[in-house]
Amino acid sequence: MSTARRVAVVTGGNRGIGLEICRQLAGLDYHVVLTARDADRADEQARSLDASCPGEVSGLGLDVVDGPSVDAAFRHVRKQHGRIDVLVNNAGIAVDGPEHRPSSPDFTRIRRTLETNLLGAWRCCAEVVPSMRARGYGRIVNLSSTMASLELTRSPSSPAYRISKTGLNMLTRTLAVELDGTGILVNAASPGYTRTDMSPDAERPVEAGADTPVWLATLPGTGPTGQVFLDRRALTW
Ligand SMILES: NC(=O)c1ccc[n+]([C@@H]2O[C@H](COP(=O)([O-])OP(=O)(O)OC[C@H]3O[C@@H](n4cnc5c(N)ncnc54)[C@H](OP(=O)(O)O)[C@@H]3O)[C@@H](O)[C@H]2O)c1
Repeated sequence: MSTARRVAVVTGGNRGIGLEICRQLAGLDYHVVLTARDADRADEQARSLDASCPGEVSGLGLDVVDGPSVDAAFRHVRKQHGRIDVLVNNAGIAVDGPEHRPSSPDFTRIRRTLETNLLGAWRCCAEVVPSMRARGYGRIVNLSSTMASLELTRSPSSPAYRISKTGLNMLTRTLAVELDGTGILVNAASPGYTRTDMSPDAERPVEAGADTPVWLATLPGTGPTGQVFLDRRALTW
């Protein structure tokens, strides 16, 4: 079945910034595939958004660290909709913090972080690129962080998280260069320090955190590619 609506897949869509990205894209009349590692939770949130937004929202189980789960989820979306126009790699974890130092690595934590924040996003990119390339249209948005910035970093804290997001920025750049001229735009967005389960002390509301990712997901063909944005402005990183 092929739908006229643009189809957007969002990872980690069950809560926080991901859920708000789903809400905003559905508000712009997209068909949003709200994915989460808990398929029941994905369905529940999708039903609730679907009832209140102009677009359509469906739920789907997808764990970005689990290859077969990713494979099955994207196969399902391609079969169901015949197209994937937008991928938002939002799923992320922050399991190291102020007390962690690069000189005393906790490799279990580091591997988990890289598996989710970098390799998980990479795996999803690889799933969507062939069909986006075939249709000559695609928008890929990777959720990064100002903590990825080589230029801004003055603290040794959260090394796994920082490194995962710096890697994600480079994935964004290299993929964008590879896909230049294909109609696929690949960018990264820092949502800013946003109040979610990950950052409960932040003051920025999820509506603001989701704004730049949604802007990048809906760019016109003349839009930028291969860059990192905060508040719709390019960041040097
Ligand atoms: N909040 C901030 O201040 C801030 C700042 C900079 C960047 N970011 C980035 O923005 C993104 C969203 O963050 P948030 O603040 O909304 O975080 P959050 O509230 O902790 O939500 C994280 C989401 O990622 C999902 N997730 C984690 N591991 C996953 C996996 N293996 N497969 C699929 N989904 C997985 C979680 O699912 P479960 O419910 O199953 O755990 C949840 O839906 C992240 O990439 C984060 O690094 C956030």
